[in-house]
Amino acid sequence: MVIMPVPPSSSPTFQPVLERIAEEVEHTPGRGRPADYIPALAARDPRAFGMAVAELDGTVYGVGDWQEPFSAQSITKVFTLALDLAREGDELWEHVGREPSGNPFNSLVQLEYENGIPRNPFINAGALVVTDRLQTRTGDAAGELLALLRAESGNPDLDFDEEVAASETAHGDRNAALAHLMASYGNIDNPVPVLLDQYFRQCSIAASCADLALAATFLARHGVRADGTRLLSRSQAKQVNAIMLTCGTYDAAGDFAYRVGLPGKSGVGGGIIAVVPGRCALCVWSPGLDERGNSVAGVAALDRFTTLTGLSVF
Ligand code: DON
Repeated sequence: MVIMPVPPSSSPTFQPVLERIAEEVEHTPGRGRPADYIPALAARDPRAFGMAVAELDGTVYGVGDWQEPFSAQSITKVFTLALDLAREGDELWEHVGREPSGNPFNSLVQLEYENGIPRNPFINAGALVVTDRLQTRTGDAAGELLALLRAESGNPDLDFDEEVAASETAHGDRNAALAHLMASYGNIDNPVPVLLDQYFRQCSIAASCADLALAATFLARHGVRADGTRLLSRSQAKQVNAIMLTCGTYDAAGDFAYRVGLPGKSGVGGGIIAVVPGRCALCVWSPGLDERGNSVAGVAALDRFTTLTGLSVF
């Protein structure tokens, strides 16, 4: 049975804390700048702010722009990782590592030293490997991802944003370079243009905080989907959460763990998802980014959430 979200007003548990956080964020100066290396993302208002919490039974609380769709970008890497791990299991780890990179998300430097094996599945190189492997197994990696997000969010209207995908294709030289370098080491199966098309469509999916918080609850349910079936084993769900904690915010993962204390995954659209295993999943969105590509207000809001509620993995 799919449990439908209820309006936040009917279930007050997390609502007061979300409203307090939104009020505090409203008065915080300095919100960063929206990503402009993908021109279609640059136009978003850096002061937009939304936050949602989804409990294990599908109850959702939200504040601000929590129902406004935004570009999910690298948040989607969590879901493609889950889909691929569910299919191929540990063989994936022969093709991508599980260590923080300490480098920017789109960096090329480690790849040559490390023979075309990316450090982890969340930097762009690692996400390209995961999408490539999912593409080989399914023939439509982005379509599989969209189906998962629609099912877990309960929102059949989720879709690709073709304008964002086209914008990234037109400015995709770094991702193309990463894919070609890995292909030269034999670590990419599909033709690079096919892989890039799948990856850019994947990143372009537009979804709201409510959608993404709901979609991430399978990680708080230790791998169990909204309909009660299992996507990941309990152990695999732990592994995905652990990689989110150590690698989900790139070269800021140490600071994110220190401040927030939760597995989290950011995207350059300004969204961040976070997981409280056994309790709830969150998504916060504000388009202004810091220099490492993480939402300034988003990290601050999650920091306040764990401080005010005492909910963290530590
Ligand atoms: O490949 C890229 O550069 C983007 N589509 C995604 C990067 C991203 O979201 C990094 N996250 N903070």
